[in-house]
Parts: sequence; C-alpha cells; structure tokens
Amino acid sequence: MKALVYHGPMDVRIDDKPKPKIEHPEDIILKVTQTAICGSDLHLYHGNVKGMEPGQTLGHEFAGVVEEAGDRVDEVKVGDRVVIPFNIDCGRCWFCRHQLWSQCERSNPKGEYGAAFGYTQLLGGYDGGQAEYVRVPYANTGPLKIPDELTEEKVLFLSDVLPTGYFGADIANVQPGDDVAVFGAGPVGYFATVSSLLRGAARVFVVDHWPIRLDKVTKIGGEPINFDRQDPVDYIKKETKGKGAICIDAVGYEAIGHHRHDSSSNPALVPQNSLQVINWIVQVARKFSTVGIPGVYLTEFANFPFGQFFQRELQIRMGQCPVKQYNEQLLHLIEVGRIDPTLLISHKMKLEEAPKGYDIFNKKGDATKIVMTP
Ligand SMILES: NC(=O)c1ccc[n+]([C@@H]2O[C@H](COP(=O)([O-])OP(=O)(O)OC[C@H]3O[C@@H](n4cnc5c(N)ncnc54)[C@H](O)[C@@H]3O)[C@@H](O)[C@H]2O)c1
Ligand SMILES: [Zn+2]
Ligand SMILES: [Zn+2]
Repeated sequence: MKALVYHGPMDVRIDDKPKPKIEHPEDIILKVTQTAICGSDLHLYHGNVKGMEPGQTLGHEFAGVVEEAGDRVDEVKVGDRVVIPFNIDCGRCWFCRHQLWSQCERSNPKGEYGAAFGYTQLLGGYDGGQAEYVRVPYANTGPLKIPDELTEEKVLFLSDVLPTGYFGADIANVQPGDDVAVFGAGPVGYFATVSSLLRGAARVFVVDHWPIRLDKVTKIGGEPINFDRQDPVDYIKKETKGKGAICIDAVGYEAIGHHRHDSSSNPALVPQNSLQVINWIVQVARKFSTVGIPGVYLTEFANFPFGQFFQRELQIRMGQCPVKQYNEQLLHLIEVGRIDPTLLISHKMKLEEAPKGYDIFNKKGDATKIVMTP
C-alpha cells in the first residue's frame, strides 16, 4: 500500500509498505478515505521533535471505512464509516475511566504520555493514517461512527483540530460576554475562534500575519490583527479599554517574532523555541483569567515570564486535547449545521501528492488546510 513516510527533516516521501494486519483482537484495519495534514505534523517535518525515526508513517487526522475487525471488536463492524481521534485510548485504565483520554496509561508501552497515531516513538511509535490503510488499536474505544447523511470530509476534523480548538476555549473557560484573543489563525486558531463564539464570546480578536488565514477567521466572526502591521498588545488593550482578553495560544513553540531563540544557522534541525506568543499574552490576558494553550511546547524555558503571570494572577491550562471529551457533541453541531468544518479546506489532493502538500502547508501563504484522498 501507499503511505507517507518520514525520512528526515523536510523529507517525507510516498513509499510502498505492507498493508497492516490485525495484531490484537481489539484492532481494526481502517481503509482510509480522507486524511489531513496538521500543524503538529509540521513540527515533525521540521525535524525538531525528539523520538522521530525514519520509516514511520505520518498522519493523525483520518477517517475511513472498517475493512477488517478483530474477534473482540463489537462497537464497530466491517463496512462502518468512522472518524478516529488522534489520541489512542484503551478505554479501561484509570485515566481513560476518568475521561482524561490524552493520558491513557496502557496505549503507550514506549513512553510516559498517552499514545497518538503517527507521532514519534515517544508517543508509542504507531504508524499514522496518511496511508491507504491504518491499524487502529482499542477499536471499541476510539472510533466515532459517521451518520449516514454526513460525508467523511464533513467530520474529518473531529479527529483533532476541531476538538482541539474547542479544548482551547474550554480550558481558557471562555464565558458569555468575554472578549477573547486567539493567537494563531491556523486550523486550531480557526476552530478556537468558532468555539469561543459558540460559547458566547462578545468579541474574538485573532492574531496572525497570513492574509488568507485572517480572511477565513474574519468570515466566521473573528476580528483580524495582522502582527506585521499592528502591535497586538496595543490593539487589544485599546479595544478592551485596558481590561484585556481571555487568551488562547494556538501557535506554540515555533512562533514567529523577536522572542524567538534560534541557536543554530539551520533552524530546521533545532527546536525553535519561542516565547513570542506567551510574552504577548502575559501583557493582555485579563487579570485573574486562565490562559488556554493548545499550541505545542516541548521543552523548558529559563526566561518564562513567571513573575508577570503571578502579578496578573493568571492561571495556565495546556496540553494534548482529550478528543473524546468533545467529539460527539461537536459531531451533533455539524449534523445540525451549526459548524461547517469544510469551510476551512483550501486544498484537496491525492495522497500521492502528499510531499507537495507538506511543502504547501509548511509555507502557509495560501493554505488553510490540506485534505488528501488515498
Ligand atoms: N494540543 C493539541 O492536542 C494539539 C492538537 C493539534 C495541534 N496542536 C498544535 O497547535 C498549534 C497550531 O496548529 P495548527 O494546525 O493551527 O498549525 P499551523 O502551523 O497551520 O498554524 C499556526 C499559525 O500560527 C501563526 N503564527 C506564528 N507565529 C505567530 C505569532 N507570533 N503570533 C500569532 N500567530 C503566529 C502562523 O502564521 C500560523 O498561521 C501547533 O503547535 C500544533 O502542534 C496541538
Ligand atoms: Zn494534530
Ligand atoms: Zn487507557
């Protein structure tokens, strides 16, 4: 079968790989019909995430049809159409029983944190879904059935970026009447904007510098701030009469800006640790509020502005989204037409074109989300 395989920094290729087999009676083999590239895949693509080994199939956003099911799978059957959360959950450990899905204790025999598809040895070393077929373990827990009237494309982003955007708004505790500032107008920032508005935010400022991305969030009710042209701190302070906003960081450690600490002439090969977004947030977060950080941070920062967080009495919540906490409710919002995730898609292509897809999504410019069909 064809699969998009990591070979090294900025080097992903379509390879022929053996079709996966059932390895455990609770596995299914999924025939992938739709798969997308995530901003988290770009961290891998840049070659700066520990534990990424050549040979792993990438991809943690995918939907498809159950092709084969192990003897102990009874929640789905061959022929069912399903969308799969990016977290791999056993469904029975202490963390799963407490709905803390992103920290399953069993699914990752190789590391301390919960497992994910296509995301390094440290998150379990599982092959991902940017492929014709993928093995999905613990299939009584993860797969979400797709209602007959919805296409896979409509629900594909329930695998990750839609729940993750909602998670950003949820951990920041966005309440009716709040002014919100979302940093990053990528897919996660887009859905954090959608979700903040659903939760009753009064205004949602969205900070980025790509016009096409800012246009898309403007169409769904966000207020764009282009950080190349305007200082986001001054603007948000002025517009909120000094009170500040509830902040969501949908960018993470590869943020652009002068608080970036590149320590090598080849930035693709080292962690590009940046506190740019955190340094903006700590100036505009409403005092006593909670800062929601779905954007990924992977290392420690000696210059993290702890003092300012203390003085403004801010809380921080962050981490991997526990997708199953949100995906059923968000599915219903799609079913009734309150959310149309397909509006975010800018490019559709064949899986064979995935290396080009990575190049386009990495350059951002005219891309908001790339969906591929095997
Ligand atoms: N927590 C989770 O479970 C989870 C899940 C999915 C993605 N993520 C992470 O969320 C982040 C965003 O994902 P995405 O798919 O939207 O990625 P993306 O790379 O498509 O988008 C990131 C956006 O941030 C913008 N940006 C860069 N520097 C900025 C700055 N200083 N201020 C404002 N905007 C800035 C970029 O221009 C880009 O549009 C990534 O770190 C990704 O790994 C986390
Ligand atoms: Zn992702
Ligand atoms: Zn578990």
